[in-house]
Amino acid sequence: MSVYPIILSQADFTNRDSLTYPFEERGLQFGDGIYEVIRIYQGAYYLITEHVNRLFRSAEAIKIDLPFSRQEITSLLHDLLSQNEMTSDGIVYLQATRGSAPRNHAFPVDTPANVYAYVQDMPRKTKNLTNGVSAITKRDTRWENCYIKSLNLLPNVLAKQAAQENGSYEAILERDGKVTECSSSNVYLVKDGKIYTHPATNRILHGCVRMRVEQFAAGLNIPFVEQAFSIEDIADADEVFLSSSTSEVMPIVEVDGKKIAEGIPGKTTQMLQEAYEVDAGLVKQRI
Ligand code: PDD
Repeated sequence: MSVYPIILSQADFTNRDSLTYPFEERGLQFGDGIYEVIRIYQGAYYLITEHVNRLFRSAEAIKIDLPFSRQEITSLLHDLLSQNEMTSDGIVYLQATRGSAPRNHAFPVDTPANVYAYVQDMPRKTKNLTNGVSAITKRDTRWENCYIKSLNLLPNVLAKQAAQENGSYEAILERDGKVTECSSSNVYLVKDGKIYTHPATNRILHGCVRMRVEQFAAGLNIPFVEQAFSIEDIADADEVFLSSSTSEVMPIVEVDGKKIAEGIPGKTTQMLQEAYEVDAGLVKQRI
């Protein structure tokens, strides 16, 4: 099964086929909204508090009034899983827009946000996690507020498509000579036993898994240096990896057709993968 039949629409549960939106919907017309993707392992959320907190941060940043409290949405998201009798590995996609109103750039008055969430199966990417993936590099052409998880994903979509057309898994983005993140994940470089990644500024999404990677590194006594690196630094990296809710901690073994070190997943990345599996309550499922 891919998408489960019962979806959350505002504070109600409905069948996915009965959800329709007017064509004058601000998410559709302006990308005027925000979203979250939360990992589910065996029917249970991973890092739900972190995602709900980020949802509220994004909403506040673009002045969308969410029609629920943190506790209310958390409980609705749990109900969504039980209503669907969801017990496998998957994700929930939740989106909130500034609502439906006649098209006008300025905010509509007295217009409630449109919110929906649905659940779908998503098995772990066990082969990629074990063998690593390849990436290309692209210019980061996004706006200045990438910490907001906004629906405006056109630069991300184009970068990911370029990666896919190249037979690669991800696109590593570079702005002003520094690597920011990837099209839908955070990225890290390991050199001489230290992990380097772009600081959590407005130039990157503050990934929920990134927050965990920082904690895993502390637990493993590996320095976590929030200092941006360049594309040139990648050439002599010991390891490169990415992180996201859907990709976990994923080794990158090749960038722009050149191998990273030996071209196999590195030890530091593997230690972080193990820490992730323990934290997420996963049994070893890698092959
Ligand atoms: N992407 N950076 C970007 C640009 C992202 O879109 C994501 C997540 C991340 C990692 O964030 P987290 O660790 O909280 O998943 C970093 C999600 C999975 C998506 O858009 O599908």
